[in-house]
Amino acid sequence: MNPNMLIDTAKLLVSGDKGLLAMDESVPTCNLRFAALGIPQTEAARQTYRELIVDTPGLGEFISGFILYDETIRQRRKDGTPLVKLITDAGIIPGIKVDTGAKDLASYPREKITEGLDGLRGRLAEYVGMGARFAKWRAVIAVDHCLPSRGCIEANAHALARYASLCQEAGLVPIVEPEVIMDGGHTLERCAEVSEEVLRCVFDQLYVQKVLLEGLILKPNMALPGLACPAQATVEEVADATVKCLLRAVPAAVSGIVFLSGGQAAELATAHLNAMHARFKSSLPWPVSFSFARALQQPALNIWLGNPSNASEAQQALYHRAKCNQAARRGQYDAKMEEVARG
Ligand code: G3H
Repeated sequence: MNPNMLIDTAKLLVSGDKGLLAMDESVPTCNLRFAALGIPQTEAARQTYRELIVDTPGLGEFISGFILYDETIRQRRKDGTPLVKLITDAGIIPGIKVDTGAKDLASYPREKITEGLDGLRGRLAEYVGMGARFAKWRAVIAVDHCLPSRGCIEANAHALARYASLCQEAGLVPIVEPEVIMDGGHTLERCAEVSEEVLRCVFDQLYVQKVLLEGLILKPNMALPGLACPAQATVEEVADATVKCLLRAVPAAVSGIVFLSGGQAAELATAHLNAMHARFKSSLPWPVSFSFARALQQPALNIWLGNPSNASEAQQALYHRAKCNQAARRGQYDAKMEEVARG
């Protein structure tokens, strides 16, 4: 492990008020999103879509890194240029999702454990050879009045820490993503309480596995009420609950925090990030940014629909969302930016 290299990469990923673009949907997940819009679920369509993202002019003004999926990191443009080269030529850092998905956790009905540790050391070495400089692993934590169990939290926290340690050994910055999901009728307070417990356990395990906090990035959920909760929260309530939870549970040594969007509407996710900065900028000990998939991509995907003649308009939509999220990182986002873009 070269600590200085890890720290430099981690700092670069959150510098310049930029954020990450997660385009690491597994083949089944990407196919589901395509199917919902009538886009063919083929490797060729997935490649064309991901090329559209990578080729979006000017994205590097707002995006520091792309999180790729195994299929994508191996793809080449028709002229033979590896996608990873196009990414680095655009000044963006390539990263790779390395977990192999959330599976049922034995003895814990309705709960998941993320797999992928077997053979991980070898896979990480291969990805480093392909140009990846950071990695991502997502744990999934479900909430209701009695979930999550301590067994689920500890198993996932342990796996995240083992993954993070292997990444740092390989020279990759680990993005540690414990996601408390939005499905269910739980309240904002319940989400915040569970998120805090999960984060405390994750950082305990990272300490036990000797992970260098300065060389990692945390990718948490925001504290949000469940999608089916009758009491939805204001933007300010979400910002306050999220920041309070993070200040309690995340050591200041961590290089940065980048949120997942988790199924929030794109503009709302941006507004939440903006409110955190507008209300707490001077008291945040870490850079706080975004690493959205749906909240960056969905508007572009809705325009593209697999039709080449929509590609340029889809790229403009992606560029616009990335720009809005950089403004949110500065606490300078205004809903008027959306009106201007809509014309
Ligand atoms: O693992 C999930 C992605 O990295 C983030 O996706 O922003 O759509 O929640 P999302």
